[in-house]
Amino acid sequence: MVDNCEKWMQAGYVTEPVPAGTNLRDEIRRMAKEKNAVIMAHYYTQPEIQDTADFVGDSLALAQQAAKTDADIIVMCGVHFMGETNKILCPEKKVLVPDLNATCSLAESCPAPEFAEFVKAHPDHTVISYVNTTAAIKALTDIVVTSGNALKIVNSLPKDEKIVFGPDRNLGNYINSITGRKMVLWDGACHVHEKFSLTRILELKEKHPQAKILVHPECKGPVVKVADKVGSTAALLKFSQEDEAKEFIVATESGILHKMQQACPDKVFLPAPPDDSTCACNECNYMKLITMEKLYNCLRYEWPEVKVDKQTSEQAVKCINRMLELSK
Ligand code: 13P
Ligand code: SF4
Repeated sequence: MVDNCEKWMQAGYVTEPVPAGTNLRDEIRRMAKEKNAVIMAHYYTQPEIQDTADFVGDSLALAQQAAKTDADIIVMCGVHFMGETNKILCPEKKVLVPDLNATCSLAESCPAPEFAEFVKAHPDHTVISYVNTTAAIKALTDIVVTSGNALKIVNSLPKDEKIVFGPDRNLGNYINSITGRKMVLWDGACHVHEKFSLTRILELKEKHPQAKILVHPECKGPVVKVADKVGSTAALLKFSQEDEAKEFIVATESGILHKMQQACPDKVFLPAPPDDSTCACNECNYMKLITMEKLYNCLRYEWPEVKVDKQTSEQAVKCINRMLELSK
């Protein structure tokens, strides 16, 4: 067993083979009930993970759900910062992420020592951070935002308030353009959303002139400009359900198409193509690390657990609670 633990630690997930003949979905649901665990999943995870989870949502909804759960264990099928946010909100609970390698290029584009210097260089500024950040960044932050509430929260601050915004330059530029503010931006980005090709989106639009273009605000400015709707994954999903259009071009990670298609089987959802002629859709390789086998093993062995040191957690919880308060 000790050998196995070392193997797991090196791998970042439980590497035990799943017993032959296991019905993964049934076993996962059975263990979740037995252990009083809640399984949460982000819209970018694989379809079978979304279909097995108790709750699927955007970053805001996942944090709101964690804040009110009475489960003993939270299994976060998503990337590491989402598990950290849950752990900070529920320090007494066991929080599991099925594969610790599921990080986030955007969170990684903002190392804490450099961000601390950036904040120090702007002493009279309020620090707003996107939720796609490590716990260490949140500990340096006054208010956290998600794509679902960023505009509302920035708008709630006095017009002349000086703001440092990190780490996503695209979301920051989008908020600046809508609000007319001049937030000072950290120069970070998500490798998935930056890859969408405006040229290929417009080519697709030419073939589907009736299609509405849905865009996540982590995309580059020129892609955001051609959008019929800009919003978080949950906002784009809602729009696709409520709008009268029958076709949509979707410029965010392609995992969201699963829920869109499930909710509206008669509508057509076309993944916006990335700037790479070989691919039709754009996937987050970190989110796709979460598999049914890893979820099964994670529940079975209650590992890997997300840890946040006490001091960081006590500091970081303030900016997350402030966000939850301002989102009501
Ligand atoms: P949402 O909060 O819109 O779901 O976005 C999360 C994310 O990681 C976007 O890349
Ligand atoms: Fe991070 Fe981008 Fe993946 Fe979202 S899509 S989790 S921002 S790497």
